[in-house]
Amino acid sequence: MFMPINTVVLPVAGLGTRFLPATKSIPKEMLPVLDKPLIQLAVEEAHKAGIQHVVLVTSASKRAIEDHFDVNFELESTLESRQKLAMLDAVRSTLPQGMTLSVVRQPKALGLGHAVLCAYPIVGDKPFAVMLPDDLIDDLDGGCLADMVALYNKKGAYSLAVEEVPRDKTDKYGVVSLNSDGQIMAMVEKPKPEVAPSTLAVVGRYVLPAEIFQALATVQAGAGGEIQLTDGIASLLATQCFYPHRFKGTRYDCGSKLGYLQANVAFGLRDVEIGTSFQAWLQDNK
Ligand code: G1P
Repeated sequence: MFMPINTVVLPVAGLGTRFLPATKSIPKEMLPVLDKPLIQLAVEEAHKAGIQHVVLVTSASKRAIEDHFDVNFELESTLESRQKLAMLDAVRSTLPQGMTLSVVRQPKALGLGHAVLCAYPIVGDKPFAVMLPDDLIDDLDGGCLADMVALYNKKGAYSLAVEEVPRDKTDKYGVVSLNSDGQIMAMVEKPKPEVAPSTLAVVGRYVLPAEIFQALATVQAGAGGEIQLTDGIASLLATQCFYPHRFKGTRYDCGSKLGYLQANVAFGLRDVEIGTSFQAWLQDNK
């Protein structure tokens, strides 16, 4: 039996500059894919993985995210009095039943690794998951994180979600190389294509040991002058095993305009209410 994974850290303190001006006053994690904000899709995936505790690492301008998961008394009583019960249910279940939410601030934008370290006082000395809500992984089965948590529960294996990327895109990702047992042997943040150890890139799902906190507290600033989660993990590779998890389904990079639009099209096409007419419209407007 391994210490259970019941906590996910969601680093959401970033500025979202790629979506300005939309993200001037709205956190990028609140941008909707069809009718649910990215942050809610991440929390729902965590729920499917059996996670009970969500830790948001936020910054000053991100209050809307906390509000989204909180009770909105006025809205709920209006919907109730108008007997809009489906809508009421949608509003009430933004945080799935049985989940609790904690919020911690990242006082300075010092990088993803630093954001994860900010969650230490809440997570404590136990294994946990990290999800980056920008990386929307559309898997109609169990979900990417559920598969990773299941792997951990079975074998005690820590893992990172990975996918192949074109070599000219390695400088946008953490890139791993594997040893002959298929374990992660090396990991480097945003390598230039000519020096990348492979084209296997990490996308935003991690199942990590408690030791990562100590590692993050001691690593030096790396790529972009930031404390990188990648460097923290890399410093543990000599003593801990990490596995790559090639997930099922499709990953949309919702931190980019193209990926965000693709996600909206995919979700729109299978929506029961608008799917058919949306498809017809797309055909007519090719
Ligand atoms: C972060 C990580 C990177 C990872 C990527 C996945 O980078 O630092 O290792 O590959 O997320 O989306 P960011 O996209 O925040 O620059």
